Amino acid sequence: MKYVIGIDLGTSAVKILLVNQLGKVVNEVSKSYKLIQPQSGYSEQSPLDWVEQTVAGIRKIVQEFNGQPSKIEGISFSGQMHGLVLLDKNNDILRNAILWNDTRTTKECIKINESVGKERLLKITKNSALEGFTLPKLLWVKDHEPELFKRVKTFVLPKDYVRYKLTGKLHMDFSDAAGTLLFDVGKKEWSQDICELVEINPDICPPLIASHKEVGFITSTIAKATGLLETTRVFAGGADNACGAIGSGILEDGRTLCSIGTSGVVLSYEQSANKDFEGKVHYFNHGAPNAYYTMGVTLSAGHSLTWFKETFAKIESFDELLNGVKTVPVGSNGLLFTPYLMGERTPHANSKIRASFIGIDSSHKLQDFVRSVLEGITFSLNESISIFRENGKTVDTIVSIGGGARNDVWLQMQADIFNAKIIKLSSEQGPGMGAAMLAACGCGWFESLKECANVFLKEDKIFAPNKVNVVKYKKLFKIYRNVYESTIHLNEELAKFRT
Ligand code: XUL
Repeated sequence: MKYVIGIDLGTSAVKILLVNQLGKVVNEVSKSYKLIQPQSGYSEQSPLDWVEQTVAGIRKIVQEFNGQPSKIEGISFSGQMHGLVLLDKNNDILRNAILWNDTRTTKECIKINESVGKERLLKITKNSALEGFTLPKLLWVKDHEPELFKRVKTFVLPKDYVRYKLTGKLHMDFSDAAGTLLFDVGKKEWSQDICELVEINPDICPPLIASHKEVGFITSTIAKATGLLETTRVFAGGADNACGAIGSGILEDGRTLCSIGTSGVVLSYEQSANKDFEGKVHYFNHGAPNAYYTMGVTLSAGHSLTWFKETFAKIESFDELLNGVKTVPVGSNGLLFTPYLMGERTPHANSKIRASFIGIDSSHKLQDFVRSVLEGITFSLNESISIFRENGKTVDTIVSIGGGARNDVWLQMQADIFNAKIIKLSSEQGPGMGAAMLAACGCGWFESLKECANVFLKEDKIFAPNKVNVVKYKKLFKIYRNVYESTIHLNEELAKFRT
């Protein structure tokens, strides 16, 4: 039996999967690292932590492996999107990475709109200027840390840096380049026009590559540090959402994914780059060759639950936290949560908005709060599904992955709020599995990702919408949608008191 490794460089941890030729995850290791939040709206990580923990995780996988390391043929990557990693002339890092959920760059987004023009930006990049994307972060560093910026030779995204440290080869793949706002999504090349208009030297953009392409082998240093052989082949990999799409079989028109990790996304396969969603949802290159996907993002999805657990529940495991939820009725006994802990993306691109619990009653117990957090996250994702439906897409079957797919009550809630059939796969590790599938195809085990998906991905359970709950949730969703408008101004005032 042969094996591949899928590495998913997430926001809270790197998850490493060892997958065999039948698509079975034979071992998985997770290694966490810290988030650095020096002030409200800032979110950074040390790229050195990513590398250290990835190497430690691979070493553990190899140590626990029963077979010969030569049987582990290939590696590929999935990574948190948009994070800015700045490198000097020796490819050494110049500062902490500024992450996708950092919202310090509102002014830079306004500048981009002024200098490029909203229409032209949308035409070339297929996306609107949002704080989370990479270009606003580049402009922020240029403006606030000019001496450091002078030393920038190139920039990459998080998993590109880890891949570089593992192989010595520096690239960025199309699916991740799409999230920079410097990339022409249709032509699959850096946009010289945008670079010129925002005064960014195009030479700092790294060489591009397709997600399925081979970049080389691991270095001898990494081979020694991990126990892998120097002949282990390395494939480019892609953005976590693109890999999540691969790892859950979103490989043809009509397939929709709901992925709940630190952020939550709803995404849908697109065959062409030419549909017009007027920038209301993101439009990125897929990890599958010559394909695209549209996507809405809830910035604090799993993050809302983690925050709630750590701040109020003092309970160790998520299973224990979610235990009481099934006894709480739809609507959490009149309690409603909006998950805007770090601002929001879809449909409200607003970095100032903050979360609310509405309707707190002295009879409410911990489980009412937990259920309302789950409902609020799911309502937020339903806003993206509504945009897809309003633009003529049929969304009747959704594959659910990530933390949101580990709990049956939450999966049923997704079916009831989305009013769609929810499919749970036997592995909910979408991005890591997608990375493993890129490596499996690269190693020649399969002709195409679709062929690989037929072998690797298995449906485990299906959750059908419960008609009575669908009606109740439709009413609650209307109330949920009102909370945003009703709290914008309050949050603008409160923002003055944030440190
Ligand atoms: C997508 C986004 C997040 C990150 C999380 O645009 O910002 O989903 O990719 O890792």
